[in-house]
Amino acid sequence: MTPAPHHAPSSVPPTAAHTGQPAPLSTPPSEARNRPSNPWWVDAVIYQVYPRSFADGNSDGMGDLPGVIAQVPYLQRLGVDALWLSPFYVSPQHDAGYDVADYRNVDPRFGTLADADELISTAHDAGLRIIVDLVPNHTSWDHEWFVEALAAEPGSPARNRYVFRPGTGDNGELPPNDWSSIFGGPAWTRTENPDGTPGEWYLHLFDTSQPDLNWENPEVHAEFESILRFWLDRGVDGFRVDVAHGMIKAEGLPPYAGFANMVKDAGDLPEFIDRENFVPPTPYFDQDGVHEIYREWNRVLAEYDHEPCLVAEAWVAPVFRLFRYVRAGEMHQAFNFAFLVSGFDAQRVTDAIQESLDEAAVVGATNTWVLSNHDTVRHVSRFGLADPTSYPEGIAAEDEQPDHVLGRRRARAAAMVELGLPGSAYLYQGDELGLPDHTTLADEHREDPTFHRTRNTEAPETGRDGCRVPMPWRAEAPGYGFAVGAAEASATPADPWLPQPEEYRALAADQQVDVAGSTFELYRELLTIRGELDLGTGAFEWSRFHDPAQGIVSFTVTTGGGKHLGSGEPIPTQTVLVLANMGASPTAIPEEYTAAVFSDDDALVNQQLAPDSAAWFMKQSAPEA
Ligand code: GLC
Repeated sequence: MTPAPHHAPSSVPPTAAHTGQPAPLSTPPSEARNRPSNPWWVDAVIYQVYPRSFADGNSDGMGDLPGVIAQVPYLQRLGVDALWLSPFYVSPQHDAGYDVADYRNVDPRFGTLADADELISTAHDAGLRIIVDLVPNHTSWDHEWFVEALAAEPGSPARNRYVFRPGTGDNGELPPNDWSSIFGGPAWTRTENPDGTPGEWYLHLFDTSQPDLNWENPEVHAEFESILRFWLDRGVDGFRVDVAHGMIKAEGLPPYAGFANMVKDAGDLPEFIDRENFVPPTPYFDQDGVHEIYREWNRVLAEYDHEPCLVAEAWVAPVFRLFRYVRAGEMHQAFNFAFLVSGFDAQRVTDAIQESLDEAAVVGATNTWVLSNHDTVRHVSRFGLADPTSYPEGIAAEDEQPDHVLGRRRARAAAMVELGLPGSAYLYQGDELGLPDHTTLADEHREDPTFHRTRNTEAPETGRDGCRVPMPWRAEAPGYGFAVGAAEASATPADPWLPQPEEYRALAADQQVDVAGSTFELYRELLTIRGELDLGTGAFEWSRFHDPAQGIVSFTVTTGGGKHLGSGEPIPTQTVLVLANMGASPTAIPEEYTAAVFSDDDALVNQQLAPDSAAWFMKQSAPEA
């Protein structure tokens, strides 16, 4: 292989567009990449940092921004292109920071605004871009707007920033409609008037502490535009938009007795789907009006010349509805949850890939691929269940316990599918270590509002704490080295905010970095090859080995060809054949290849690919004359 230099951070310091804040990172010039320059996010591998659980810089048991700064060399070594940080803003943390009280400041638990600036510049110096989380559907009830709204009269401008309504029933004692909160219980809470009498109700699609904003109000639009600029001026490279399908509610707030499940779906679909006249089943999700907002935001981002992007967290269905968020002039990316929920199953994975490629082509967008995040059971645990397509909302001690050895083997194979696909890929912190969920966490430790809101109901949910357990950095340190700053500090670090399972010891980063055969080194190798061969912008084709009925997912990605933009020299064609065996029997491999990577040491048995394994086979063809 003679790889072209790739993803090298530019040595030319770009000018900060608006302020003296950290300089944004520029895209390497097209000549270095041997192809016309794409926006950086098109093929980026983006690593999700969940700040409270990534690395603890001040030994208080809670992760923080100084902890992230300390681990930038680790992320650089892994070879990702960007970080997405879940919210680190001022928040009472009733939903782990997705309840924001001040969008323009850092919560003292996580550090200071100066730490955020330092993280942006440290990451940029290391060639990593930074995406921050934006939570526009709701604020915290501690936000000054909501405090003001509660103190104000019904019908006042302060109340009109949220969704307040009089109750129904003879005395307004019943909620304005029948909507349920995604986290369980009603989506409405009644307020108390200043004189102590019961007052209006306010809408919260999530926890009571997360009042929904009124996106029919221009003041809300102006405020979020200003928040975007605040972070863009500080040099961030994009925004992950929380519940991007939620901000606009159907006119008149019509009744809806059903439920929506996080990530998995947004309500029950009708049997017959009419693409042209599709009406979303849920009156508070995927309403057409949300697209207006993204067109506005796209215009704001376009004023900045460092190619900032918007990525939608939108659990919508069918798949074609998702791609409406990435039409030209709207968002740049959307998480591919159809791929995430397809499990370790060749047919379902095939369908998710094919449908995503087809729908992306309709709107002229590129794809993203993701296996886990802070709202899902980690795929190592999901793939270790008897049914590796199951999608539990959390795993508790009394539930079926996954086989994590099998789950990790499958997860490594799945990573080879994910990272082989053209487009952008999202990793959740710990994917690269093969971390499972904590599946026996005691209830007393649980913080997820879903657990607390449903625990005494007919449909109790375990919640998402199991996938949010603090990262293990050093096997033999207290808290498996979660307190990354503790080496210098004399005091013993506080216990991590959630206990880690014993199996994290053997999976700690110091047991894997530079250790041949480790999951970390597998990821690093895949990311290196992906970068060198520009797989993220390659051409996809199902291969002759593809056979979902037998459990085989196989495709080729071809890059290169054409002439070097600078010298005019012909460029060889590179083809990578990705082969994943999700079936029960060993399967044939190609006869000719120049190099190969296998998901496990014992993946190749008698020149066949073993079940629960995957491989990349590389081949170079001579340049066209
Ligand atoms: C998103 C977040 C999730 C949060 C919810 C409410 O789905 O990913 O963690 O609880 O929004 O903000």
